Amino acid sequence: MTSRPRIPVAVLGATGAVGQRFVARLASHPWFELAELVASDRSAGRRYDEACAWRLPSLPAWGGLGAQEVLPCRAAAIRSRVVFSALDAAVAAEVEPVLARQGALVFSNASAYRMEADVPLLVPEVNAEHLALLEVQRRVRGWSGGIVCNPNCTTAVLALALAPLEARFGIARAFIATMQAVSGAGYPGVPSLDALGNVIPFIRGEEEKVEAEIRKILGTVVADGVQPAALVASALCHRVAVVDGHCEAVSLELRGSPSLEAVRSALESWRGIPQTLMLPSAPAAPLVLHTVDERPQPRLDVERDGGMSVHVGRIRPCPLLGTKLFLLGNNVERGAAGASVLNAELCHARGLLPA
Ligand SMILES: NC(=O)c1ccc[n+]([C@@H]2O[C@H](COP(=O)([O-])OP(=O)(O)OC[C@H]3O[C@@H](n4cnc5c(N)ncnc54)[C@H](OP(=O)(O)O)[C@@H]3O)[C@@H](O)[C@H]2O)c1
Repeated sequence: MTSRPRIPVAVLGATGAVGQRFVARLASHPWFELAELVASDRSAGRRYDEACAWRLPSLPAWGGLGAQEVLPCRAAAIRSRVVFSALDAAVAAEVEPVLARQGALVFSNASAYRMEADVPLLVPEVNAEHLALLEVQRRVRGWSGGIVCNPNCTTAVLALALAPLEARFGIARAFIATMQAVSGAGYPGVPSLDALGNVIPFIRGEEEKVEAEIRKILGTVVADGVQPAALVASALCHRVAVVDGHCEAVSLELRGSPSLEAVRSALESWRGIPQTLMLPSAPAAPLVLHTVDERPQPRLDVERDGGMSVHVGRIRPCPLLGTKLFLLGNNVERGAAGASVLNAELCHARGLLPA
């Protein structure tokens, strides 16, 4: 039996915190072949293993990747039709639409286009039907490719836990206090003298992103955009001295005031399209429920399932809103690289990748 050739892909921002996760994940992917590694002019022209300060605990199965030349970020020179973008928002804002116009499907981590009406803000277990917006992009913008965004890392974790509760009961209000890892700020990110032994009670733009993105993700596709979900969300975002893994303490007002058992059962039984299709990056279950009071913890749980499952613990009554729980998710995998790759896998399974 002949195996199908793998699809060549490019990673933009390949030397950064998210870019390295892409490289590790794609180095041995069954469907995608890491053809182009792209970064800033500081890195362009150098070998990847020299341009990049590798910070993951294990090296991927490199093959020839280490010796691969890093390419400059010029859209016209990028040949892959499937592009993963781990660029800063300002750079992404310029490069991604050019790539989309020239026929590439861009899977973006940047915030630049997330809230555009015709751009899917995709979490495959939650809102796969939002991919219908790609057709709107093509019609309205004249692109032959497109842009598919994954949410901010904090929102990605939250969306997976809220989706089954929104579907089963409906959510009226959500109050979210976060404890976010330093890797969420990229590499080298927060200076160690600010981070160590400390809590920083401000992450620029983060609270606004979480509050807006969660409503879009849980919303409904209408004519040329998304009707946001009705829930009102209030986010309080904080940086803590954890390397990887965002924690979120969440209180929810659920419609009909369901019992804790009903909440637990809705979360535990939930599966999505990636699980049905057995996509290569999909965890067996999107949510892992913990019953021990001290779990989940970033150090113990964040890399389980390749960082693709979201952990839920401490489900209990809330005297203010009814139900409260604790979440943990891997910000650089389910919140970034792994999320983009899962988005691309869903598009491949649906025949939406460019030829
Ligand atoms: N970290 C997270 O948890 C997380 C989660 C979700 C989303 N995101 C988003 O993902 C994106 C990347 O974040 P990160 O944490 O990986 O950042 P990072 O560690 O700072 O990496 C930035 C990458 O972009 C490249 N770059 C910088 N300026 C460039 C330019 N002018 N042209 C081309 N490439 C350029 C860098 O290349 P050089 O090495 O050559 O400078 C590097 O590869 C951001 O939009 C961020 O908001 C991050």
